[in-house]
Amino acid sequence: MNTTPNNADVLQKTQEFLQRLIIDIADIASLQQVLRFHEHRYYVLHQPLISDTEYDHLYQQLVRLEQQYPAAVTPDSPTQRVGSDLNEGFTTVQHLVPMLSLENSYNAEDLRDWDRKNREAAGTDAITYCIEPKFDGASISLIYESDRLVRAATRGDGVQGDDITNNAKRIKSIPLTAPFSNYGIEQIEIRGEVIMRKDAFETFNQKQAELGLPLLANPRNAASGSLRMKNPAEVAKRNLEAFLYNVSYINAKQPNRTPQSHAESLQMLWDCGFRSPQQEKQVVTGIDAVIAHVLAFEAQRDTLPYEIDGMVIKVNSHHLQEQLGMTSHHPRWAIAFKFKARQATTTLLGVEFQVGRTGAVTPVAKLAPVAIGGVTVSSISIHNEEYIKEKDLRIGDRVLIERAGDVIPQIVQSLPDARNGSEQPIVFPTHCPVCNSILHKPEGEAVWRCINPDCKAQVVERIIHFVSKDAMDIRSLGEANVRKFFELALLTQIPGIYTLNFDAISTLEGFGKKSIDNLKAAIEASKQQPLYRLLYGLGIRFVGETTAKTIANHVTHLLELKQYSIEQLMQLEDIGPKVATSIYEFFQAPESITLLEQLETLGLQLTNTKKPAAQGDGQLQGKTFLFTGTLTQMKRSEAEALVEANGGKLLSGVSSKLNYLIVGDDAGSKLEKAKKINTISILTEAEFLHMVQSTTNN
Ligand code: IVH
Repeated sequence: MNTTPNNADVLQKTQEFLQRLIIDIADIASLQQVLRFHEHRYYVLHQPLISDTEYDHLYQQLVRLEQQYPAAVTPDSPTQRVGSDLNEGFTTVQHLVPMLSLENSYNAEDLRDWDRKNREAAGTDAITYCIEPKFDGASISLIYESDRLVRAATRGDGVQGDDITNNAKRIKSIPLTAPFSNYGIEQIEIRGEVIMRKDAFETFNQKQAELGLPLLANPRNAASGSLRMKNPAEVAKRNLEAFLYNVSYINAKQPNRTPQSHAESLQMLWDCGFRSPQQEKQVVTGIDAVIAHVLAFEAQRDTLPYEIDGMVIKVNSHHLQEQLGMTSHHPRWAIAFKFKARQATTTLLGVEFQVGRTGAVTPVAKLAPVAIGGVTVSSISIHNEEYIKEKDLRIGDRVLIERAGDVIPQIVQSLPDARNGSEQPIVFPTHCPVCNSILHKPEGEAVWRCINPDCKAQVVERIIHFVSKDAMDIRSLGEANVRKFFELALLTQIPGIYTLNFDAISTLEGFGKKSIDNLKAAIEASKQQPLYRLLYGLGIRFVGETTAKTIANHVTHLLELKQYSIEQLMQLEDIGPKVATSIYEFFQAPESITLLEQLETLGLQLTNTKKPAAQGDGQLQGKTFLFTGTLTQMKRSEAEALVEANGGKLLSGVSSKLNYLIVGDDAGSKLEKAKKINTISILTEAEFLHMVQSTTNN
């Protein structure tokens, strides 16, 4: 099918089918055409315009219609063949056994239906299944003859594939020889999936970015693209890995020595040196156990080092597999259980510009709501102007979005081929959308900023940050309440938290006596929060929790920082010029000082209560410490507390700023590094304790 003209029409039709609940016989030809179009985009051009799930959904609709109306099945219907990934430039080879696809299931009910059919066909009460991950990569077929790898092929159209033997030989987890003769096997065809691990994918993309080369979209595209590369040496660089999960053909002298079940096949593959899912597999009896296992596995999907998009459940006994047989599309003895989709396509309806706590203006894409990974997504941050340019996003575009696990949703790419010409560029504002002051973008930064400190958007975000969990932790105030009070002008600046008009609040809906008492108590308690929390809560740019701790530990009163120069600030551990400048600027601004003085008057702690008083000043005052190895007389945390209690400071790494390295058992690289810096004193645990005791007794 020609895909260039009129993409827009097919896409419109696609959307219509995706949104309709019922597709009927009158649409069957049109649906077949739509699916053929998307197959071509996916398998030939490698530029899909819809997500896999959307494709699957339409495909299932066609299967259903064709089952109802068998007369409507045409030889070129997408259901009559498996998708093709044949590419020019490789020799086409015949698979020994057709490489079929898998039937899909999406919920427990689908699995129960499948199990019921299996039990009926087998005439048994409970069937033993082998469950393994459904690897999200590119499928591969390998043939070994007399223990030697003689051919590797892609799946192609299922009957024929591309000969990619030279590329496969560069994948280290594919053995070039394997002792199948131990099992009396002369020739064997095995199937599996080539994948790129998440870490390899990230490293690869990082290198590409450094070289200014195009990035790979996701690990799956990375794997399938890599298999078809013309230069095998390039394949080697990509750190691919192959999971081999199926034996499709065996020619053996003594068939009784060959595996009798799927689990035994995986064991044989493992023993022959393949990365079969031997450790990942689970053998269970009965469909309830299958369902429990796949659901539990889905919950831990993100902890795996590679991507999976579901589980595959296979009837374990080979004998029973043969009895169940196959359709032209898939074996009846196996089924894929697809996890919840993480990708979807939708329309970018518009862009809103939000102003954050530091004045940064962030564009947020407003999307036609779409369900993905169990939640409905209707807006996604698109970061900055550069990002918009890079992804070539326009208002009205179809976009592919992704939500992986806990990761916040992101736009993978726009789909320019789906444009009809009415799309509009995204224009960045020149003025703050909230206070209308002119936006600034310093040299070398990606972000436009509103620099008006009184900008309402910034003020409310600053209050939200101030009360947040890691700052002053005033939980009963929370983001929603801050916004509500701010809107009603009951709270207009940070100090206002401590002078809230509770009479006015008590007239609001949802604020009974109990919640007001809680709120009062939480606000009161926050006055005693340690100094670093207050400092962090001020929301000074680049001052995270750790930096706040370092600085807070260094002063007796927060306002001392008024006297610090940038150079002095840079003397503190882990504080570089950028952070130092930001802190300096904050403490030079008269409004910052007014704010801190106000807070102190309202009863907040600006003194460092943990820090020893000035004269005594702690026996380890001015000295820096680091522990390495295992301590025997006390816990690491206790030793560290001892240092701090005596006025010493802890460092996180060995550098010339370190005075003492205390070495426990099995110390490693830190000790080696410290030995090279001759200003560092290296102490044993006993020497350290002696030092603390003798100095404290003084
Ligand atoms: S078995 C005859 N097992 O999923 C049975 N397939 O959507 C052949 N896949 O074409 C497939 N992990 O590329 C099987 N553990 C696994 C799999 C797996 C991933 C792929 C395979 C197949 C596709 C079907």
